[in-house]
Amino acid sequence: MWRPPEKIRHRAQPGRWPSAEEAMQSRLFSPISIGALRLASRTWVPAMVPWRASDHGYVTDDVLDWYQRFALGQPAAIVIEATGIRDVPSGPLLRIGDDRFLPGLRRLVETVRGASAGQTRLLIQIIDFLAVRRRPERSRFIERYLQITDDHRRALAMPDASAQLVRARLADLDEAALADVLTARELEALRMGYREHVTDMHLEHIRELPHVLPDLFASAARRARLAGVDGVELHYAHAYTMASFLSPLNQRDDYGGSRERRVALPLEVFARVRAEVGADYPVGCRFLTEECIEGGSTTGDSSYFAVQFARAGMDFLSLSRGGKFEDAKQPKVGEAVYPYTGRSGYECMPSYYSDPKGPFGRNLASVASIRAAVHAEGFTTPVVASGGIHNFEQAEAALEHGYADVIGFARQALADPDWFRKVRAGYGEQVRLCIYTNYCEALDQRHRQVTCELWDRLALNEPGVKLTSDRKRRLLAPLWAPP
Ligand SMILES: Cc1cc2nc3c(=O)[nH]c(=O)nc-3n(C[C@H](O)[C@H](O)[C@H](O)COP(=O)(O)O)c2cc1C
Ligand code: SF4
Repeated sequence: MWRPPEKIRHRAQPGRWPSAEEAMQSRLFSPISIGALRLASRTWVPAMVPWRASDHGYVTDDVLDWYQRFALGQPAAIVIEATGIRDVPSGPLLRIGDDRFLPGLRRLVETVRGASAGQTRLLIQIIDFLAVRRRPERSRFIERYLQITDDHRRALAMPDASAQLVRARLADLDEAALADVLTARELEALRMGYREHVTDMHLEHIRELPHVLPDLFASAARRARLAGVDGVELHYAHAYTMASFLSPLNQRDDYGGSRERRVALPLEVFARVRAEVGADYPVGCRFLTEECIEGGSTTGDSSYFAVQFARAGMDFLSLSRGGKFEDAKQPKVGEAVYPYTGRSGYECMPSYYSDPKGPFGRNLASVASIRAAVHAEGFTTPVVASGGIHNFEQAEAALEHGYADVIGFARQALADPDWFRKVRAGYGEQVRLCIYTNYCEALDQRHRQVTCELWDRLALNEPGVKLTSDRKRRLLAPLWAPP
């Protein structure tokens, strides 16, 4: 993963933990409504893909165990990992693109209700994404994938040559000469692996996205409701389809260009979802404060989007940051590009090696200005912040200053799923603080079962402990009970 060149080491601090009494009176542990949904506190576990679904996208026992473990810690809300809305093979990514996924999702709902004693509400993040292929070998790319055009012939001064001859000439060129002949997209396909963009208007299925996505999201949301999930988070963040529509890099001639046109499809998707699930079903979205890439969206754009989403009637706005393909590291041949490996990836999941600003609450200033813009327009839609938040004082201060309404703890909840119970009961000193090494994120990148280095080698011989497929790590944090 990319790291700021300053490489200043930051350490997560426990701060002062509250007594049970103080916690009870705190803002963090005070209730809040997300539309019709009442949350017992302002604690939230954002979506995290743990790579535990079946190869066909079904909920497995490992998925149930993963969410059960978070639910035992009783955060007010858990957002189920990014879950695919299409009925297409997507590897071990959870799916909700057909009714056959409902029984598994129902079991998931029951599991979380039971384990949290009804204290935790469960939302689901629903996602669409475009095709990304592995980086090809150079020779294979030139021989098989590259479509030979007259532009190549012109550039090589071979106006009448057969495609075969052009390929042979291209194969002989050195890197710089080849780069002169190929278009930017062809070079991207060669160096990073072929990737669809929302601006690929020459592809019918991409051109048609605005016609198919509203129904796909709406059907997925309907299923979420049928399964008993308490609400839906539309995934408008990071490197995926909807975020790409919001980006200034989207210069489509229908839903691209100006901010108004870029936000149009996300609003149409929401309207269709709302019509499908009804006014009383909580629906919000996750989107980016800033894309953190050259030419990407800024807090100015996001403030505008946030106001539009609030005006349209979204029940919450969850803000993330970065996580784009555009600045991702070049993958090895045979591997696919991963959107969290560049600077924007760092902004999404900042690690302990940082710049003077540090990783803790790195997104908060942007979140605060977006929330202020929403309030300035007379809306009070709850805003969820996340990014490096791990101690009570930090979370409480963010609420006190009005930077956010709900606090997301992703990696901190992975490091210690009992954070919420411990802090509320006055056992904050027993919290296992995340050290922000991004060991978990590296596992995610390799699509390996996600665990935390702070607990995955502990008590491996414990009776009944479940292990990863390589038998080296435990899958779940050890249980905790109040002393
Ligand atoms: C293993 C892992 C998987 C993640 N999967 C998702 C995801 O499915 N959807 C999403 O919006 N964010 C995902 N994220 C990002 C987190 O939700 C969160 O925004 C990020 O980790 C920063 O918050 P934190 O500092 O509290 O961890 C993931 C993060 C990790 C570490
Ligand atoms: S592996 Fe554990 S300690 Fe390291 S960043 Fe992830 S959650 Fe935090």
